[in-house]
Amino acid sequence: MLYLHIALSFILFLHLVEGNFYFTNSLGLQQLSEREELPVGTFIVQALTNQLAVDSFEISLDAATYFAINNTGHISIKQRIDREALISRTITGTITAKKSTASPNTVTATFRCVITDINDNVPSFPKRLYEVSTSEATSVGVLIFSQSAVDGDATLNSNLQYSIVSGNDGGKFAIDGTGKVSISSKLDYEQQIEYTLNITVRDQPGLSNWTILVVNIADQDDLPAKFTAFNYLGSVAEDATLVSIKTSLNMISNPSLKYQFSNLV
Ligand SMILES: *[C@@H]1O[C@H](CO)[C@@H](O)[C@H](O)[C@H]1NC(C)=O
Ligand SMILES: *[C@@H]1O[C@H](CO)[C@@H](O)[C@H](O)[C@H]1NC(C)=O
Ligand SMILES: *[C@@H]1O[C@H](CO)[C@@H](O)[C@H](O)[C@H]1NC(C)=O
Repeated sequence: MLYLHIALSFILFLHLVEGNFYFTNSLGLQQLSEREELPVGTFIVQALTNQLAVDSFEISLDAATYFAINNTGHISIKQRIDREALISRTITGTITAKKSTASPNTVTATFRCVITDINDNVPSFPKRLYEVSTSEATSVGVLIFSQSAVDGDATLNSNLQYSIVSGNDGGKFAIDGTGKVSISSKLDYEQQIEYTLNITVRDQPGLSNWTILVVNIADQDDLPAKFTAFNYLGSVAEDATLVSIKTSLNMISNPSLKYQFSNLV
């Protein structure tokens, strides 16, 4: 009778220990946050149950693509994670622990890991070279070019700053925080007909790229017509039948002038 009692107590005790199989850190398995691009094999977290030894652990769904779990519940990086390539920035899945002698034999926990950004993308303009034309008469302040660069990263890693690093002779152009280029001081075709601006973009941590903007200045009839000489001499024979005097009057700057004699002497 005593033996039976001891045996029954022992079975009951075993049942208490072995039963009620559950994860002890299931909440922690859902509140993970790891940065992208961690090396394969990096240890992340250990799934813990109330049982000393578990037959096996499994990880499933999306999580199984990027994370591996071994038979002691250690979860590590299985495949490189590129945050920009993920549809959702959070990787989720299910962790299952199995133990044949426990009750229940199988327990599951949700796995949820937010992937944070690192600055792994260089900003870039869609093209290496742009060309625009503007008249020398265009007012100061007018926008002549508007092309932002793109950066695949998040937050500060894609916070871009623009500058014209070369070619801005005489400081004729200004660039704003979104990469828009405008005229900042009066252009003059007679002074310079073309500018080659190197526009450099930089993200906050310092990765940079550039594009070239060629600005062609178009001439405007902004100068008074001017003869190149004070007087011009032609000669005509007194017996000339055809009254035609040919001489060339070289004019500066304007090809489409009309000429007329105003005072014949
Ligand atoms: C599981 O991985 C951890 C480290 O990531 C290691 O310490 C442990 O021994 C591994 N367990 C098994 C059963 O391989
Ligand atoms: C810089 O931008 C160009 C396109 O304008 C792109 O082809 C190139 O890959 C970028 N550089 C880097 C290091 O990403
Ligand atoms: C533009 O400037 C960057 C530095 O900001 C430089 O690395 C690049 O070579 C320049 N591009 C050209 C075409 O000069």
